[in-house]
Amino acid sequence: MRLKHCHSVYDFRQLAKRRLPSPIFHYIDGAADDEKTCRQNTRAFDRCDLVPNVLRGADNVDLSTTVVGQQLDMPLFLSPTALQRLFHYEGELAVGRAAEQFGTMFGLSSLGTVSIEEISTLIKTPKLFQLYVHKDKGLTRDMIDRCKAAHFDVMALTVDTTVGGNRERDLVTGFTVPPKPTLQSLISFALHPAWAFNYCFRQKFELPQLQAYVKEGSSIPLSVANYFNTMLDQSMNWQDAEALAKYWGKPFIIKGIMSVEDARKAVDIGAAGIMVSNHGGRQLDGSRSPFDQLAEIVDATGDKIDVICDGGIRRGTHVLKALSLGAKACSGGRLYLYALAAAGQAGVEKALSCLHAELVRDMKLMGCKNIQELSRNNLRFR
Ligand code: LAC
Repeated sequence: MRLKHCHSVYDFRQLAKRRLPSPIFHYIDGAADDEKTCRQNTRAFDRCDLVPNVLRGADNVDLSTTVVGQQLDMPLFLSPTALQRLFHYEGELAVGRAAEQFGTMFGLSSLGTVSIEEISTLIKTPKLFQLYVHKDKGLTRDMIDRCKAAHFDVMALTVDTTVGGNRERDLVTGFTVPPKPTLQSLISFALHPAWAFNYCFRQKFELPQLQAYVKEGSSIPLSVANYFNTMLDQSMNWQDAEALAKYWGKPFIIKGIMSVEDARKAVDIGAAGIMVSNHGGRQLDGSRSPFDQLAEIVDATGDKIDVICDGGIRRGTHVLKALSLGAKACSGGRLYLYALAAAGQAGVEKALSCLHAELVRDMKLMGCKNIQELSRNNLRFR
């Protein structure tokens, strides 16, 4: 199987599985406990059907949208994800450049492997920074200051990781950041020589947002769950979120909202948007899917705040269903991460090109010329 054989997120997943040492593949692919929420995130889209209209002259489709003040050429952007240079040596630069080609937003993680400064000089497409609030207040403040200086557009505060999810695949494989050389991991690296060569001989793996403050994750191997448990501020509350939003002063998103009550609080503290998200099912297994929660959150707050549906998206039709319910945009992580692991920038470009082509084709088949024409009228729940 090669890049030319990949036509969907599912194909990229298969290729990523071949190319990556198993602890790394399972870190991307895995989720919490029984991984039910992760599966539901995608299955939720099957609980309703699109109802197309015909003969509407939809020969030209405009997919553009404005979300949290950012003009995007397509209503799907790339959620921030950690550790990208571990998956492919081109890492965030590949993902950011692909996002730029499709005129969509790129998210950089606090646990990113390319610095805030480097990405901002190289990539002009709208940029979101995902903030993990650390116990070390100086580190948190430093990341925000760096984003201000580097002209990032949006700050997204992640609120669903005060403790690490129970990712049993990572326990089985012994996944740590950076990878710890154990017999098991060395065998899996030896079985994937191209990955191992690139990891060892390309630019050294680093976490440039953090390493001036913490050694864990950069030179001390640690599991992601341990990182969350020991480094992040578990006492964070709504007053803290409001203070961060004020300090940032530009569009502020809360990532990881699942209830109407919290969506209302996000409006109250002046957030421009919320990402309805359960962290790809990687935190609280048994929590509801973003798509299942979307309608009630849009009904309560959609006229005051931009609602983004994050998670589970594998197809253009999934995006159209979320937009029909009232989401301003959708976002996803694994939908481009498998492609990054499979083939670097060329992989992410092809994954986005497949999703973009699906969106255009599906809009035409729906008889819609622009995304404002999508509404609940064209959706039926079973
Ligand atoms: C994860 C974090 C790092 O889900 O976002 O692994």
